[in-house]
Amino acid sequence: MRENIVLIGFMGVGKGRTARALASQTGMFAVDCDDLIESFANEKIKTIFAEQGEQCFRKLEQKAAKWLEKSVRTSIISTGGGFFKVKNLRKIGKIVYLHAEFEDILERIRTDVNAAKKLRKRPLLQDMNKARMLYDERVPLYRRVADVEISVTDRSAEQIASEIVSYCVSEKRKKRK
Ligand code: S3P
Repeated sequence: MRENIVLIGFMGVGKGRTARALASQTGMFAVDCDDLIESFANEKIKTIFAEQGEQCFRKLEQKAAKWLEKSVRTSIISTGGGFFKVKNLRKIGKIVYLHAEFEDILERIRTDVNAAKKLRKRPLLQDMNKARMLYDERVPLYRRVADVEISVTDRSAEQIASEIVSYCVSEKRKKRK
């Protein structure tokens, strides 16, 4: 696969886990956009939100998106839940939207061994009513920008990764024809 694969979707849907499974299935490297931002800013995302505000974080996402477009090839890129709004999204790679219902996402987070940590590090998951509104607002937007939608419900990261690989292989065949 020559094009990057960009995983988008709501918080807690398993973008990072899927990226790692994809990396091990394909031999491609996986890059996490939130990790890039944290190393660039030398701050945790939670601290950037608290001390500099969400707008500042969104600017860092756009900066990371520009860097990804220019510098990253043949890789898997996992992104934060709001990254899909960057201006150059489609120039970065194939966009794969990982979908789950809101209740499933909450269940995934609650039953995770690191549940408390996962909730603590996500500023936009502190108020569940607001998080649900954000989810409702974003789902149609994720669908609009995605090249493909993959359901993650009741499936392991390995199964999801295999489906993404099959999709990319069939796209490649279509291009050859
Ligand atoms: C955000 C999602 C987070 C992180 C930041 C903002 C969002 O990433 O980028 O807290 O706007 O949905 P995850 O989707 O990995 O939780």
